[in-house]
Amino acid sequence: MWLRNQRRLLGVCTLRFVALGRELRAESGQRLLEVCEEAGIPMEAACGGFAACNTCRVRVISGQLSELREEEEPFLDHPSQRLACQAFLTGDLELDLDPGS
Ligand code: FES
Repeated sequence: MWLRNQRRLLGVCTLRFVALGRELRAESGQRLLEVCEEAGIPMEAACGGFAACNTCRVRVISGQLSELREEEEPFLDHPSQRLACQAFLTGDLELDLDPGS
């Protein structure tokens, strides 16, 4: 009961991966990388989520994620990019995969 109430407070987000033509729902507060892995979104995440590669990078088209973390900055070429392993859902989102090499 407590967990159900917390989830209701946190809310459900809709994520739309534009280029992939995939839409999914996830709880606000979840890590984006984990949401992608659970949904079978083809994201490599070579370092295992430790902000040491940029293979989990995404490009946010609309919506917001949690605040940018200092660990992400060396891997981002544009303000619309984020590392899925460092970003948490805060609301609805449109995005594309944008892995670096
Ligand atoms: S999984 Fe390597 S930076 Fe995110």
